[in-house]
Amino acid sequence: MTTLGTPLSPSATRVMLLGSGELGKEVLIALQRLGVETIAVDRYADSPGQQVAHHAHTIDMSDPEQLKALIQSCKPHLVVPEIEAIATPALEELEAAGQARVIPTARAARLTMDREGIRRLAAESLGLPTSPYRFCNSLEELRRAIAEGIGYPCIVKPVMSSSGKGQSRIDSEEDIEGAWNYAMSGGRVSHGRIIVEGFVDFDYEITLLTVRARDEDGTVGTHFCEPIGHRQEAGDYVESWQPQPMAELALRNAQEVARKVTDDLGGLGVFGVELFVKGDQVWFSEVSPRPHDTGLVTMISQWQSEFELHARAILGLPVDTRLRAPGASAVIYGGVDAQGVVFDGVDAALRIPQSELRLFGKPESFVKRRMGVAVAYDETTDAARGRARRVADCVKVRQADIQS
Ligand SMILES: Nc1ncnc2c1ncn2[C@@H]1O[C@H](COP(=O)(O)OP(=O)(O)O)[C@@H](O)[C@H]1O
Ligand SMILES: [Mg+2]
Repeated sequence: MTTLGTPLSPSATRVMLLGSGELGKEVLIALQRLGVETIAVDRYADSPGQQVAHHAHTIDMSDPEQLKALIQSCKPHLVVPEIEAIATPALEELEAAGQARVIPTARAARLTMDREGIRRLAAESLGLPTSPYRFCNSLEELRRAIAEGIGYPCIVKPVMSSSGKGQSRIDSEEDIEGAWNYAMSGGRVSHGRIIVEGFVDFDYEITLLTVRARDEDGTVGTHFCEPIGHRQEAGDYVESWQPQPMAELALRNAQEVARKVTDDLGGLGVFGVELFVKGDQVWFSEVSPRPHDTGLVTMISQWQSEFELHARAILGLPVDTRLRAPGASAVIYGGVDAQGVVFDGVDAALRIPQSELRLFGKPESFVKRRMGVAVAYDETTDAARGRARRVADCVKVRQADIQS
């Protein structure tokens, strides 16, 4: 049985988010609605989640000492990683010492913080189908890996990176050196290690949101959302829709892969399982042990968004993963490098029926930074996609006029 307290009182149920971007902000709002006392941590001040939480802290989360000190002083009941770049060994230490409960587990946070931990787990320990791959520490090793079996086309990614940073495709020998140099400039931590993957010629790719939640009998059950289709540009998601139509066998295969990997990672909460699909065949690509950016669509397409599902699941509460209506999301990019930008056209955007808008409130805009998202529902996902796109296109981000 779950008991919740009163925020800012001795009975409070305290939850700390490590990373408080647009996804964390929605998880924090869902927690706030249940009267949870929230602590938002990020590497920069005034992050989206910090603007809606009871408490805000700005630290370098990849520094184990800073991270441990903050958790030990705030004493949250749950520690919820929202990003990958965290000193996960420190979380494992605190968890082992009984000083923190990490969502879903500290081990899952460690295994998914880079591409190597999760790929080796999925392909080598669990035997799940993946693209062929090799890890390399030098340009020479990369050349050898391609020559000895990965072949063309293939994709190079820094081991520590997300949102397509440092990622590029190699079609022939001339591309190899450029791809290596690009990976070295794009990694999160300059780490000098990459994964090279054989290119999977998939029909479509999905995110299968998988929720591990406590059922009425006290056991942990696995609940699947409808598959989410999405389109990536340069490794970054630009639009998503739900449900992605799938052949029955393909869906069953996808759920089986998702179940195996989430069973192994364990704990409670939402997982974003990324899969490639061709016919009935499914390849595991990667998994986030937390809500997924392509799942922003669930704010309009499901009765409970992935953020509400996460908040409920981690608190030991029941979940409902049913679809409400076919829906879509479209990303709104900054388009400018500027601080304190303004958004024109919000009125026009919201005049389009069956839609909603989220502006994340990020203090600084970059050309390719995600500043907001439009979501819409309709009779079909195609209609919802058109609607979400029109809403997003109404919103224009620009530099604020200089104030005197
Ligand atoms: N082996 C591959 N074959 C084909 N496409 C791929 C492959 N790996 C990645 N991609 C494409 O690039 C996108 C981003 O890759 P991903 O590994 O998910 O990186 P990130 O961690 O940055 O999201 C994928 O969603 C997919 O569209
Ligand atoms: Mg991905």
